[in-house]
Amino acid sequence: MQIINTVTELRTALKSHPSIAFVPTMGNLHAGHIHLVALAKQKAECVVVSIFINPLQFGANEDLASYPRTLAADCEKLKAAGASIVFTPNLAEIYPDFDGIHLNQTMSIALPPIANELCGASRPGHFSGVATVVLKLFNMVFLNGAQQQLVVFGQKDFQQLFIIKQLVTQFNLPIQIMAGETVREASGLAMSSRNGYLTAQQREQASQLNCVLQDIVNNIKNGLNDFDALEHQATSTLTAQGWMVDYMTVRSALSLSPANSHDRHLVVLGAAKLGNTRLIDNIEFLR
Ligand code: PAJ
Repeated sequence: MQIINTVTELRTALKSHPSIAFVPTMGNLHAGHIHLVALAKQKAECVVVSIFINPLQFGANEDLASYPRTLAADCEKLKAAGASIVFTPNLAEIYPDFDGIHLNQTMSIALPPIANELCGASRPGHFSGVATVVLKLFNMVFLNGAQQQLVVFGQKDFQQLFIIKQLVTQFNLPIQIMAGETVREASGLAMSSRNGYLTAQQREQASQLNCVLQDIVNNIKNGLNDFDALEHQATSTLTAQGWMVDYMTVRSALSLSPANSHDRHLVVLGAAKLGNTRLIDNIEFLR
């Protein structure tokens, strides 16, 4: 496994590979990330994993400074998982006009309205930051003319995956997107780098988020159609248990618009804070 810090070295290393699968991450890797690497390995002979904590997708009052940085342990895990290349660029490599203080990323991609809903509503600019860095990373990893170019994202970040699919389609990128299922703790808690912020007691409590989403799914599968009522009930349950709910919503999995009674392919999404830690989860299902 090669560890590469610059775009120039990355392009040289990738030059002769016929098939590349890419897994973008911000590091602090857990079994969810490693699952994506395993999927990538099944599909391509060269698996590239990037580790880059992207300041552009963090809001001013968010956890950029405290985001866990565990590069040595991450590389061990990636080696064991069979990754070919770990790409760990510094800020100047990704943001060429970075002056030591400001990123100076003055150009951006205009995103569709969905980028300002759900997580985008409470994290203004988040998806613009994600789309910008993902497009940059695609340009770095995928410009070698490989026959097969695949990127793997997790369903855990359903809205992110949804937006990146549109990015790839609408900018005609010759990249196939693969989605990896959400890997969970035995309790049902979706694995996340942010779970590390939880106290032992909060960690026990954290599976409640998945529980209320699962309740909504079960109720809909049992024929309940009043999505508003189900969303309110889930919100009240979590609030009573000490959570600060950001959103609980039933959406069409195909359009991410609020679900209507005709939609069959649904996704229920939730975001809520336990103390200072904001957790998200979702369940996609058919009824
Ligand atoms: P990060 O949060 O590190 O996640 C990297 C990838 O791992 C994403 O595709 C995410 O959906 C996936 N992932 C996270 N938890 C998972 C779980 N429990 N099961 C399966 N997959 C999981 O998402 C980002 O980084 C960044 O926004 C990034 C795309 C790298 C752009 O900066």
